Amino acid sequence: MLSEPFYDPGRSYQDNFEHGPFGLFADAQRISSTTEPKHRFLGQPISAPFGIPAGPLLNGRFVKAALDKGFDIPVYKTVRTRKYACHAWPNVLAVKVDGDLDTGRTLVARRDYSEPLSITNSFGVPSYDPEFWQPDMADAVQHAGPGQVVVGSFQGTKSESGSVDAYIADFVTGARLLKQTGVKIVEVNLSCPNEGTANLLCFDIPRARTIVEAIKAELGEIPLVTKIAYFGDDERLTQFLREVGSVVDGISAINTVSAVVVDEHGKQALPGEGRLSSGVCGSAIQWAGVEMVERLAKLRESLGLTFEIVGVGGAGDAAAFDRYRKAGADVVMSATAAMWNPCLAQEIKELAHEL
Ligand SMILES: Cc1cc2nc3c(=O)[nH]c(=O)nc-3n(C[C@H](O)[C@H](O)[C@H](O)COP(=O)(O)O)c2cc1C
Repeated sequence: MLSEPFYDPGRSYQDNFEHGPFGLFADAQRISSTTEPKHRFLGQPISAPFGIPAGPLLNGRFVKAALDKGFDIPVYKTVRTRKYACHAWPNVLAVKVDGDLDTGRTLVARRDYSEPLSITNSFGVPSYDPEFWQPDMADAVQHAGPGQVVVGSFQGTKSESGSVDAYIADFVTGARLLKQTGVKIVEVNLSCPNEGTANLLCFDIPRARTIVEAIKAELGEIPLVTKIAYFGDDERLTQFLREVGSVVDGISAINTVSAVVVDEHGKQALPGEGRLSSGVCGSAIQWAGVEMVERLAKLRESLGLTFEIVGVGGAGDAAAFDRYRKAGADVVMSATAAMWNPCLAQEIKELAHEL
């Protein structure tokens, strides 16, 4: 049974930002943690290695609510070095997927959210100015109790001139702004468009390496996680790990899987240019997240690397959590399922075997 979501797809992003979170996340009740922090994530003691990845926790109020409900590793949504507009509403629609989602599929969007739950989301990674998010993130970081840690996520923004150097410099500025908030773990989203190309940044391995090296130099001792997309090609993943996996401290996989999304009349479901395809997440991509975690764990060993693995994608119940942990995930996170189930962290703490 789905609960009232803490992010309401029927409202605009702005409305959610100003008035959310909703449902149980709005009740400001703190669930006391009964588990001693016997896990560690990137040097931080953690009660349960479970959290919410970058995206649905729009601001400090959402992050604090997630901490209060026992999500011990919430990620403050991906921010930028300057204000950036959100795509037009709607930004979230349910999609009907038969079985596992592979790439190149066309899906029909729906307004009824039911299990097994998969959605498409399309926001364009909006951001407020650092003048807003820096103090807001700093406050959320302080709200973490024993056995909890807040992660701050960011990405670079292309410059008006289209200069690659300016694009890379923007990542470094972003890292500095995050560091100033006192956040203990930073995540950089490399599953975002790459300046000057049609591909995702994580698939441009030399540039990804340049960027993570520059960010690491700025962050110093603060651990850096990189968020990546599903890699279909094992050779490319191996190369990515040789170049990038040897620099970062953690890898979070996966982001959404792209699909064409239409309405019941076969027309583009999300309004506006460039939105015929959008990212799909939830139960239909669990297979892809688990498979990536398995491959990351194997390659980590064979390449003698030490990065920690964050398993993301359709981790909607204790069985999925167990599946991810068995596959080699050091920690597991859920976006879609957590949005509709504010008690998911508690359920996992009670039911999971792999804790
Ligand atoms: C509402 C929403 C917003 C998201 N925004 C971001 C984002 O800003 N940055 C990012 O790296 N991933 C973003 N994601 C992707 C999630 O972090 C995650 O990788 C993906 O949803 C798969 O997990 P799930 O199947 O548990 O939803 C977003 C996901 C959702 C549902």
